Order: sequence, then C-alpha cells, then structure tokens
Amino acid sequence: GERSKKVEQLSSVTKDVHDGNSTITSDYGVKQHNTDEWLKAVTDDKNGPLLLEDPFAREKIMRFDHERIPERVVHARGAGAFGKFTLQESAADVTSAGVLTDTSRETPVFVRFSTVLGSRGSADTVRDVRGFAVKFYTEEGNWDIVGNNIPVFFIQDAIKFPDVIHAGKPEPDCEIPQAQSAHNNFWDFQYMHPEATHMFMWTMSDRAIPRSWRMQQGFGVNTFTLTNDKGERHFCKFIWTPELGVHSLVWDEALKIAGQDPDFHRKDLWQAIDSGSYPKWKFGIQVIPEAKEHDFDFDILDATKVWPEELVPIRYIGTLELNRNPDEFFSQVEQIAFCTSHVVPGIGFSDDPLLQGRNFSYFDTQISRLGVNFEELPINRPVCPVMNHNRDGSMRHTITKGKVNYWPNRYSAVPPTKPEDGAYVDYPAKIAGIKARTQSKKFREHISQAELFYNSLSPHEKLHLTNALGFELDHCDDHVVYERMVDRLAEIDLTLAQSVAEMVGGGVPQKAKRPKHNKKAKGLSQVDYAPST
Ligand code: HEM
Repeated sequence: GERSKKVEQLSSVTKDVHDGNSTITSDYGVKQHNTDEWLKAVTDDKNGPLLLEDPFAREKIMRFDHERIPERVVHARGAGAFGKFTLQESAADVTSAGVLTDTSRETPVFVRFSTVLGSRGSADTVRDVRGFAVKFYTEEGNWDIVGNNIPVFFIQDAIKFPDVIHAGKPEPDCEIPQAQSAHNNFWDFQYMHPEATHMFMWTMSDRAIPRSWRMQQGFGVNTFTLTNDKGERHFCKFIWTPELGVHSLVWDEALKIAGQDPDFHRKDLWQAIDSGSYPKWKFGIQVIPEAKEHDFDFDILDATKVWPEELVPIRYIGTLELNRNPDEFFSQVEQIAFCTSHVVPGIGFSDDPLLQGRNFSYFDTQISRLGVNFEELPINRPVCPVMNHNRDGSMRHTITKGKVNYWPNRYSAVPPTKPEDGAYVDYPAKIAGIKARTQSKKFREHISQAELFYNSLSPHEKLHLTNALGFELDHCDDHVVYERMVDRLAEIDLTLAQSVAEMVGGGVPQKAKRPKHNKKAKGLSQVDYAPST
C-alpha cells in the first residue's frame, strides 16, 4: 500500500543488516577485518593477555554492557505494531480536530499492548489489566490515547497511583509477586479503598484474561473534552471495539499457557499481522454536552464509573487497523513514549483528578526512562514540523541553526500560529472555589456500578468471576484480609459473597450489607468464549 508519512520518516533513519553492501565497522565508521578475536600479546603461538588498547573490542563490549535501559515502572511487558486510523464519519459537530473530522485522511499509528504489573520478562496470559496505548501521528502533532482494556480504574485521584501499584507489584522484602502475602497486600488495598470495588470486579472477570490482544476492547478510561469550531465543549470517552469480538481464555487455559508459552499474546499479534490478517477495531466516542455535566447519578469525571451505554450511546466513527510489525523491538516498542498530555487542537482534558495527575506523570517518567530529548527518538517524532526554543540536554539530536534561542527576537523568523491557522487554544473554562484536598460528593458512592456490572454478567461469567475471587482470596493467608473482602462482596451480592466465603473457608455472611438495586447494565459484559483448542 501507500507509504505513510511516518513510514517515510522512519525509513530515513533505518538501516538493514541484510543489505549485502554493509561491512562491519566500528561505531566511528572504520571498517574492521576481524571482529572475533580481541587483540592480544602473543608469543610463540601461545595466548598472552588481551590488550586493553584494542578500541574495537572495548567498544563492542562496552556497548553491550550498556544495552539495557530501565523498564517501564508499570506496563513493562508489552509489544505492538504499526497501523492506520481512518474516519468513516466526521465528528465536526463536536470537535475541530482534523483526525476526527477529515474523512479523507489516513492517520499513521503505533499501538502498544501490555500487562500492568509484570516485569519485562513476565508471562502474557496472567490475570491483569491490559494496556491499549495508541499514538496517532496526526498532521497537527501527536495524539496519544493511553488506555486499558477495562473501562474503569482502581482509584479516583492520581495521588493514589503509587499505592495501588506498590500493593500489586512484588513485595518489598522478597520480591515475590505471587507470595501469599502479596495477595494479602493486593486485597488489603482493595478493602481499604472502596473506590476500587468496581474495578476489582472487572479484573476478577474474564476481561482480565483476554484470549488475544486482537479480541479485546480498549478504553481511554478518563474523561476528555472535545471542542468544535464554534468553541462549544463536550465531555468525551474514547472506545475501541474489536472486529473479531471480545473473547477470553478460561482460567485453566491461561495458567497452562503462562507456563507453556509465556509469549502467547505477542506471538499471536505478530503472526496475525505477518500472515495478512490485520486486526481491526471500531473507534467510538461517548459524548456529553457541557451543560449536562451534572445530570447523572455519578460524577462523569470519576474514572471508577462507566457512562452506561443506554444513557450515553457509543457513536462509532472510525477504524483502527494494525498492518505492519515493528522492524526492531527496542527502538520502536521499547522506546515509544506515550503521554496522556499529548492532545491536538480540538481535543482537551477535563477536571478528572486521575487524568490530571497522569498528564504530569507520563512526561516525567519518560525523562527518567529515556531522557529529556525522548521526543526526538524516531518512533516518537511527530510527522509535522517541530519548532521551538527548547534546547540542549542529554542526547540532543536536532541541530537548530540560527543566531537566537529565545522568543520573541529581532528576526521573528517564526511568528506564533493564530488559532484559525490551527494553533492549540485552551478552552476558557470557568474556575472558582477554594484550595482543598477533597473530592465531589458523588465520588463517594462506590457500589452501584460494581453491582450493575455483576448483574450484567451471564451465569457462566458469574461463575468464572466467583471462582476467580475464590482462587485469589484463597492465596491470602491473613484471615483479616479475606474476611473483610467477603464483607465487601456482600455489599455487592449476597450469593457471590456466600460462595466465595465457602471457597476460602471464612465466615459465611447471612445478609446483604445494603439493599439490592437489581439494575441491569447493557453493553458492559458479553464476553464470548472461543472454543479451546
Ligand atoms: C504506563 C494506562 C493510570 C503512570 C501506562 C501504559 C498504559 C497506561 C497503557 C503503557 C504505555 C505503553 O504501552 O508504553 C493507564 C490507564 C490509567 C493509568 C488507562 C487509568 C486511567 C496511571 C496513573 C499514573 C500512571 C494514575 C500516575 C499518576 C504511568 C506510568 C507509566 C504508565 C509512569 C510508564 C510509562 C512509560 O515508562 O512509558 N499506563 N494508566 N498511570 N502509566 Fe498509566
């Protein structure tokens, strides 16, 4: 097919080891005739000591010594691919973003899928949330949707992120992730944070053991905003729905595959693309006009809540297709740097307190993982021109010519772009109030949507969830932890709590902790089971 701007750009910095003309050189370009033997002091055909003077051997070894960079602090294990985003229906009524209004465009993308808690070398099929991060190389700059395969999150405020991750990652003393007490830590956290209830129900459901990355949904999770040409603002959620349907493994399969083939998911994606069966997702938006922000039982800026589809239907407007495997894992999959703060004109943030903290965190972590010039790495570079007076820093790559390094200046070579010519304009949102470490009242209700989710499951999905909770809580050796958790479950569903209590051998609760709502949510579950082969 036609080469995208991003493919063109990358090819200018790509070299091919299979190119027959390449001879081995040092990094400083000098051709080498022997790269297999270190320069030695040799007498009478006997080996003497290696000579430290050998610059080529030193270079080869030292370059090897420094091959590793820190793995991502979360989502360390993952893989990804290139593809394209196309738009079937313009969303010009709600946004001015070119990528969401111009149906003639094909926007190059890179997508990285991941697990959250495992290290770089961990197994693909473990029970975990899956990352679903999309970088759009748009003509107006990079736009990143750094999402997950589950529409809600454990916490409401970014300041809790170190706690939720520490409680799930390997324990501080023994670094054993699945130690009995690590389950204690994870469930201790869940109990201490009622806001996590909805999310732990999703993570104990079949959604957390996807059969394939190609068979999972993606969600931006946080509430973003869209602004149209008239300057009107809407709140918005982003959704990816796979063409192949949503399918899960069953727990027994997931366990076995983790042992037999820990690379199951990355292999599945690679092979699908390699054989030309390109995975596709529909892209949808849920939109709420600014004036309706407070019309719901829940706070629409609360990342522990979904916007039920029967209240806010999903409008599918675009298609994502992954169609090219990376050329090199490190320089593309490992060095790609997503930031929720990367948005383009027409797309903005809301006061979602999780999103606002993320907007700080991603940029910050890239500085420590990749260095301050990370945006210059080939995989991260925008396809549109980049010009400013940010400069220097470790591993600066770009050479910016000229006499001045500040703005404005006597040359005024690059005038600032006017909004009508595509400059990013901050929406003049009204703010008022006092400074306080608090949250809105609606943020304090945590059970209704967990219950909605549970009630939306089919009988076999409920059974899987019950078994998952039994399995996980049975790995806690602190009775305080699992007994408290059974109490929490009784707030969601008494039968669920009773079944789990029987599985873990704790006291069986006799009555629900709160009245039942018996609400049913559409579009939340519906996981299909592909037959086991
Ligand atoms: C990485 C999603 C919450 C900090 C990631 C990645 C995804 C993701 C998909 C992997 C990106 C990749 O493939 O390279 C989410 C979602 C969240 C969430 C959907 C909730 C809505 C947070 C919060 C923080 C945070 C609250 C911090 C305040 C990080 C960091 C990384 C990361 C530091 C590592 C980035 C890197 O090294 O490249 N997240 N995350 N995340 N996330 Fe989050």
